[in-house]
Amino acid sequence: MTKPVLSIVSVVIDDVESIYFYLVLGNEVIASCRLAFPREPMPTMIAGFVTEYHRGKGYWRQLFDARVNWVKQNNPKAKYIHLYVDDNNPMAAVYERIGFEYTGEIVKENGCKWMRRKLN
Ligand SMILES: CC(C)(COP(=O)(O)OP(=O)(O)OC[C@H]1O[C@@H](n2cnc3c(N)ncnc32)[C@H](O)[C@@H]1OP(=O)(O)O)[C@@H](O)C(=O)NCCC(=O)NCCS
Repeated sequence: MTKPVLSIVSVVIDDVESIYFYLVLGNEVIASCRLAFPREPMPTMIAGFVTEYHRGKGYWRQLFDARVNWVKQNNPKAKYIHLYVDDNNPMAAVYERIGFEYTGEIVKENGCKWMRRKLN
């Protein structure tokens, strides 16, 4: 089977940069996610999606690794990668399994919990 192609796009809105990651198969985007504040001390992974047909094939993990590699290459001073998660999100257990820890801080705007993982 043909492998999806990774595409990485930088977008600046009102002076704030985000990096969008896409997995493209033919002319279809099958997975996407975002990295917010990528050059600041708290590069933050924003949840994305894998289209239903393509779930369970490791594409989320591929985009996760792509984001970690991007930060390592473009923001070598960053020590951690961050994300925030809702208590009801089943992915929280996955984040813990791959080494994320709760920092004890809460996102004021939405009540989600901050997690972080060492980059090296
Ligand atoms: C969440 C989502 C991106 C995962 O996509 P996927 O194609 O299943 O991801 P992968 O195949 O790369 O699996 C990544 C890991 O997540 C786990 N996983 C995926 N969906 C899960 C779920 N609903 N509950 C618990 N674990 C889940 C997999 O078991 C795998 O863990 P492992 O590597 O330890 O085996 C996909 O289900 C989705 O798009 N959901 C709707 C949007 C959404 O919920 N986004 C928020 C994500 S925080």
